[in-house]
Amino acid sequence: MVSRVIPVDPFDLIIFGGTGDLARLKILPGLFRRFASGQMPPEARVIGAARSEMDSAGYREMIHASICEFLPEKQRREGDLGKFLERLEYVRVDATGTDGWADLKTLVRSEVTKAYYFSVGPSLFGAIAERLHGNGIAGPKCRMVVEKPFGHDLGSAQALNETLARFFDEAQIYRIDHYLGKETVQNLMAVRFGNVLFEPLWNAQFIDHVQITVAETVSVGGRGAYYDKSGAMRDMIQNHLMQLLCLTAMEPPSKFDPDAVRDEKLKVIRALDPVPAENIVRGQYAAGDGVASYREHAENPESRTESFIAMKLHIANWRWNGTPFYLRTGKCLKNRLSEIVVRFKEPPHSIFEADAGRNANELAIRLQPNEGMDLNVTIKEPGPGGMRLMEVPLDMTFADALGASGDAVPDAYERLVMDVIRGDQTLFMRGDEVEAAWAWTDPIIEGWTARGDAPKLYEPGSVGPEEALMLMHRDGRRWRDLKA
Ligand code: BG6
Repeated sequence: MVSRVIPVDPFDLIIFGGTGDLARLKILPGLFRRFASGQMPPEARVIGAARSEMDSAGYREMIHASICEFLPEKQRREGDLGKFLERLEYVRVDATGTDGWADLKTLVRSEVTKAYYFSVGPSLFGAIAERLHGNGIAGPKCRMVVEKPFGHDLGSAQALNETLARFFDEAQIYRIDHYLGKETVQNLMAVRFGNVLFEPLWNAQFIDHVQITVAETVSVGGRGAYYDKSGAMRDMIQNHLMQLLCLTAMEPPSKFDPDAVRDEKLKVIRALDPVPAENIVRGQYAAGDGVASYREHAENPESRTESFIAMKLHIANWRWNGTPFYLRTGKCLKNRLSEIVVRFKEPPHSIFEADAGRNANELAIRLQPNEGMDLNVTIKEPGPGGMRLMEVPLDMTFADALGASGDAVPDAYERLVMDVIRGDQTLFMRGDEVEAAWAWTDPIIEGWTARGDAPKLYEPGSVGPEEALMLMHRDGRRWRDLKA
């Protein structure tokens, strides 16, 4: 099946931090794919802005090298790549000084859509916003894209929101959570609200529990300095897993429109109960399996930061009363796997003999790898010997079902950047949503800090600490296997 590509209007995308990892590894390779697909029009331009001394030719060479390194050969036709690189410019800008701003002003075109991507640390957001505003190059039609981490706690997130609000309207601000750009995450909304099959059952009456897992095999490696101040709670739960939880648990919005969707997500976050200590397991990877310990990576021999977390949550509203949500995420685990698993209740009464067995349906929505869904249904075990029940998966791997190769599914970043250009905020976080997520997160972190809780050690390549398994076992449930 060939996907429909609708070109966007001509634009200037200005990336502050244009020479940084995110720009080189994600944003520019992603834009190149959109260019090659015909979605990014030939008149569009990307302007890298950073501190390094470099000219546009040097920038093109740098980005050429990253695209060759990060995109497989079959995705880069030289003709396309050459034309794409011609669309790049570079300007040297001092984010906290005066250098380069006049050059940037000359470069940006007044007649096209303009998006400024803040791919820099949050400490520079204010300085850049002020200079954009002061130089008159960020009028009310311009869009600002800001990256996570959006604050470290509620206070810092509020301060960032206030800083941005001094210069821009909320409708101009696009706070990125790249999980919202993943194909399957959006499919979750299509599945829930585009079918009659699921929504009538999508509540505590029929759903036993929900599990959300984002397991990674990578260690914190070279990011130890950032990560040690953050930990899995701030790095993953407060944003990515929270967004998955919201889309799974929210009420149907009246329409697929930015504020209707974000209003419903916000209600979920506000309905989250505080989490008692016994419902949280924090872990930290030890050394093993050829991997150095977390503490070595963090260069902090005393670190109590968690590289793994599992928790049980309750959403205090009518729909979810009594249905727990279990979340887990961690580094250095057995496999890379992200999925949302909805475990339904068993049928209320069995008409079959007791030894026929009894099963519950399970819907698994896989974000990565092998994006897709499978639904376990109960059937009769084939053959003679009476009625015995068994579970079989109705498997729908999107690449198989849609005849799409992995290359055809846009990466989260490329989709989100195109949404910015189209002016669609649906898949971006609103300021109040981010603040509500911190308001729920902060007391949890304060709780374990005040108690002086140390994380449980776990082996690299395992499924995390034993206690995380017990979190479900004690409720008579179990995590799905972390199979590749
Ligand atoms: C980032 C986190 O936001 O998401 C990283 O800071 C994490 O620690 C990454 O590794 C995971 O993203 P993905 O798309 O690889 O699942």
